[in-house]
Amino acid sequence: MQNYKVLVTRKWPDSVEKKLRETFDVTLNEQDKPLTESELIEAIQSYDAVLPTVTDAITDKVITSERRNAKIIGNFGVGFNNIDIESAKKNKVVVTNTPEVLTDCTADIAMLLLLGVSRNASEGEFHVRKQEWTGWRPTHMMGTKVTGKTLGLVGMGRIAQAVAHKAHFGFNMKIAFFDPYFENQDIIKKFDAKSFDSLENMLGISDFVSLHCPSTNETKGLINYDILSKMNKNSYLINTARGDIVVESDLVKALENKIIKGAGLDVYESEPIVNPDLLDFKNVFLLPHLGSATVETREAMGMRVFSNICAFFDGKEPPDRVV
Ligand code: DGY
Repeated sequence: MQNYKVLVTRKWPDSVEKKLRETFDVTLNEQDKPLTESELIEAIQSYDAVLPTVTDAITDKVITSERRNAKIIGNFGVGFNNIDIESAKKNKVVVTNTPEVLTDCTADIAMLLLLGVSRNASEGEFHVRKQEWTGWRPTHMMGTKVTGKTLGLVGMGRIAQAVAHKAHFGFNMKIAFFDPYFENQDIIKKFDAKSFDSLENMLGISDFVSLHCPSTNETKGLINYDILSKMNKNSYLINTARGDIVVESDLVKALENKIIKGAGLDVYESEPIVNPDLLDFKNVFLLPHLGSATVETREAMGMRVFSNICAFFDGKEPPDRVV
């Protein structure tokens, strides 16, 4: 396959880059510098496959650029809201993603946020590092108990199910969910989960609300002030899905007005910019989009992209074809 020209937009794990080098005429991004829109347009014109990631905006303008040569976009990421899917479909550009391999690690980060925010992990850690700790005392940094509480999941796809598994079997949590498209009774039974047809009703009974829906026209801005006010005053919002599902300024307002108890966030509305007002809250636990960030998972994601483009150039159906 050495005659296929492939462009990788960011630095990938070494083992996957090695595999790509051995197989294709590949251009890597050793400096890990994000590509500009005009560089993406140039890439789509000069390469047979472009392998972007979730931070590269593959817009209609990029896809419909004159003299487009690339026939496949192999996205490094399960989410593909960075790509104009309608345009790709219309212009017969194949798009693939990387499902399954990041499910567990992303679910682990959801649990980390849930535990981190409710048990004051970040504040406690800084306290120790700044040498402010004066010793154990009965009322020091009391958090909220997690075991046995109710976890409300928004969306019941693969990552939500992995979170439900860890929370239910590991922390004896009760599972509730809102997902109008989910019907698998075996899974509902396995977690003894309660399905809600109204998001508002589920929020009212949840101690933790964890978001697991993709960013679509339907879900963008779903968690606004009005919805946040339906949450229980002692509950926490957890987001490992996409930042734009939450109206960040409304979340700030809800925290200021003590409408909810806290939030654990791994994703943000305008990454890498984080609303500066969020930084002042001690009851907010913040991570820099680390859901899939383990060596094992990032290697597996890269290998998934590799399999997709190999299949495509072999004339076969790529296993993770989106359109
Ligand atoms: C994805 O894959 O969509 C994540 O956000 C990055 O792992």
